[in-house]
Amino acid sequence: MSTDRVIFSRPFRASRELANLEAVLASDHSHGDGQFTASATAKLKAITGAPHALLTTSCTSALEMAGLLLELGPDDEVIVPSFAFTSTATSMALRGATCVFADIDPATGNLDPESVAAAVTERTKAVVVIHYGGVAADMDRLLALAGQHGFAVVEDNAHGLGGSWRGQPLGTIGTLGTLSFHDTKNVHCGEGGALLLTDEILMARAEIIREKGTDRARFLRGAVDKYSWQDIGSSYLPSELNAAVLDAQLDEFDTIQAGRHRVWDAYAAGLADWAARNDVQLMTVPEDRAHTAHLYYLRTPTEQRRDDLIAHLGGLGISAPFHYVPLDSSPAGLKLGRTPRPCVRSAEFSGTVVRLPLWPGLRDEQVARVVEAVTAFTV
Ligand SMILES: Cc1ncc(COP(=O)(O)O)c(C=O)c1O
Repeated sequence: MSTDRVIFSRPFRASRELANLEAVLASDHSHGDGQFTASATAKLKAITGAPHALLTTSCTSALEMAGLLLELGPDDEVIVPSFAFTSTATSMALRGATCVFADIDPATGNLDPESVAAAVTERTKAVVVIHYGGVAADMDRLLALAGQHGFAVVEDNAHGLGGSWRGQPLGTIGTLGTLSFHDTKNVHCGEGGALLLTDEILMARAEIIREKGTDRARFLRGAVDKYSWQDIGSSYLPSELNAAVLDAQLDEFDTIQAGRHRVWDAYAAGLADWAARNDVQLMTVPEDRAHTAHLYYLRTPTEQRRDDLIAHLGGLGISAPFHYVPLDSSPAGLKLGRTPRPCVRSAEFSGTVVRLPLWPGLRDEQVARVVEAVTAFTV
C-alpha cells in the first residue's frame, strides 16, 4: 500500500488561470470591476440563477455587507446556529446586533427550525442559515417562520455553490445569499466571495456599500457623469487578479463538481456496511436536496472514539479533521450573544464529527486507501 500522505484538501488548478493572470498583469487594470469580474459574475449568475451577484473579497465580507444592508444595530437580534463558522456570527455582531444561538438538526448539521422558533423575540431582525457541507437546511419551515415574524433570511452559502433545495439554487432562496471562494472551497481564488441578491433596491444599495460608499458602479455604466459619496460602505470588491483566477475556475465548474462527487459517492458506498456495524452516522442528503460534495463527514458515537479515529487515520498518513467549535460557549459567543436554550446537539455534533479528504484530484487508489483505513477501525 502506498504511504504518501493523503491530505484533506488541495485547491483546484484550472487550466486558464495563468493565462488570465498574465492578461490582467499585462493590462492597465488590476483593481476591481474589470473584464474578469464581469465574466466571473455572469458565470455565477448562470450557475445560481440569481438576478444579481457581486464579487467580494470573502464570504465574510459578503456577510458583513448583508449586515449593513439589513441595517442591523444594537437593538436587533440575529439568530445564528451554534454549530457554525465564526464569520456567520461575527459579521452580525460587528453591527452591534446580539447573536442569539439556536441548535441544529443532527441529521444535516443545519439550523433546527424548532430551535429557531424558540429563539424568536420582538427584536429578531434576521436568521443566518448555513447549508452545511452543501446540503440545504430545512428551508420551508425557516421561511415560514421568517414570514410569520417578519425577519430576513441570510443564506451563508459558503459551502453550497451549485446545490439546490427542491430545485431552487442555494443562496437565492432567502433575502440574501453569500458564497466563499477561499481555497478550501470547491471553486476558489485564494480568498474571495460573492453576495447574491434578488431585490433591486438592495442591489442598488449593495453596489454602493461595496465601493466605499460611492456610486462608482453607476458611473462605470455611464448612468452618472461623476461619482461621489452616497452612503456608508467599505472596500469589499476583489482585484481583477482574484477575479481572473475565479473566472478560470468557473469555466471548469462541472469538472470540479464531477471530481468531488466521484470521491463522495465512493465514500458513501465504501463505508455503508462498516458504519452500520459500528454505530457510525454517515453524512446523508435528504431526497429533496441536491448537494455539492463540499464535505464528506461521519459521526462517531462518542468524542473519545472520534479523537481515536482521527489519531488512527493520522498514523496511516491520512488527514481527517474535526470542524466548527460551538459558538454559543466560545469566549466571544458568551460576550456577544445569548443562548435561550442549551445547544446540546451542536455540542454533540461538533464533538463527534470527522471530515474525510475530499478534492477533485484525489486518485481512486487514495480514496480506496482512506476507505480501507477507516473500515479497519473498530468504533
Ligand atoms: C459556513 C461558512 N461561512 C463563512 C465562511 C468564511 O468564508 P471566507 O473565508 O470566504 O470569509 C466559512 C469558511 O469556511 C464557512 O464555513
